[in-house]
Amino acid sequence: PIRVLIDTDPGLDDAVGILYALADRRFSVEAITSVAGNIGLPVTTRNVGGLLSVMGRGDVPYAAGAAGPLAGDGLNEVAIHGADGLGGVTLPDPLTAPDAVGASGCLAKVLSQVPMGALTVLALGPLSNLALLARDAPEAYARIGRIIAMGGTIEERGNAGPHAEFNIASDPVAAQMVFAGPVPVTLIPLDVTRQVRATTEDLDRLNATGTVAAKLSADMIRAYFVGSAERTSRPLHDPCVMLMALLPELFGTRPMRLSVDCVTDVGRLVPSQNGPTIDVAMTVDAPAALDALWRGLGS
Ligand code: BDR
Ligand code: CA
Repeated sequence: PIRVLIDTDPGLDDAVGILYALADRRFSVEAITSVAGNIGLPVTTRNVGGLLSVMGRGDVPYAAGAAGPLAGDGLNEVAIHGADGLGGVTLPDPLTAPDAVGASGCLAKVLSQVPMGALTVLALGPLSNLALLARDAPEAYARIGRIIAMGGTIEERGNAGPHAEFNIASDPVAAQMVFAGPVPVTLIPLDVTRQVRATTEDLDRLNATGTVAAKLSADMIRAYFVGSAERTSRPLHDPCVMLMALLPELFGTRPMRLSVDCVTDVGRLVPSQNGPTIDVAMTVDAPAALDALWRGLGS
C-alpha cells in the first residue's frame, strides 16, 4: 500500500476523500492532521476523530494543527459545509483524543518512522500545517516524498474570488512556502476537480453498495447538494487528491512554475520565472475516476 498522511479541514468533500482512503486498503493511512479552513479548528479536528471512529480506526493517530493562516484572517465555507462542517451529518464520538503533540509533532513523528521519501502527504485544506513544518522543522519536512494538494485554479473562474481558489486564498503565504520548498508538489486545481462530479444517481449506487464508507459518503454528498445552488451535480474536489495518489494514469499533468499572489489578487496563481516546477493536473478521465472512487468506498 501507499503510505499517506492526510492534512485536512473536513468539510464534506474532505470527508468523502478520508472515507475512501480508510476504506480502500491500497492506502496505508499513517495519521491525519487537521487545519482550520471550511470551519474552525476545533470542529475540523472533531470531525477527523469522528470519521476515524465510524470506520473503527482508533489505531490511526490524529492531531490538531493551525487554527488560522500564517498571515491574515482566513476564510470559511460555513455556507456550504454548515456550522458543524458536515452539513448536519452526525458522526459517533471520537474513540481517542487527538495527539497532544499537535500537527507538526505528529507529522515529524510519522516522518521519523518511515524511510526518507516514503510518505505522501494528501493536502485537502489550506497549507498552513505544512508551511509551519517547513519553517520550524525543515529536516523533517524534507523527508516527505511528495505533496499532492487540492488547490488553486489555472484557467477556471475561482471560488474565493475571480481568480482565487479557497484553499490557496485561505493561506496564500503558506501555499507560497510549500510551492517554493524542497518537496515535489502535485497540484489539483479547480480545472480538474470541477470535472469530477457526483450526481444524484450516484447516491443510489453508493447506498446500494451498503458499506459504512459508501453510505456515509452518500449522506455527505447529499448534504453537499443542500448547501449549494447546483441541483444536478457537485464537484468532488478533495477525493481527487486520493485518486491522484492511487491512479495517476487517470490525470494529465503540466509542469509549471507558479507563485502565489499574497498582496493584490490574493490567492491567484501567477506564472513565475524561478522556483521549483509543480506538476499541475489539467485533465482527468472523470468517469473512470468516479468509478474508482465508488468502488473503493464499497470495498
Ligand atoms: C476546496 O475548498 C474547500 O471548501 C473544499 O473542501 C476543497 O478543499 C475547494 O476549493
Ligand atoms: Ca478541504
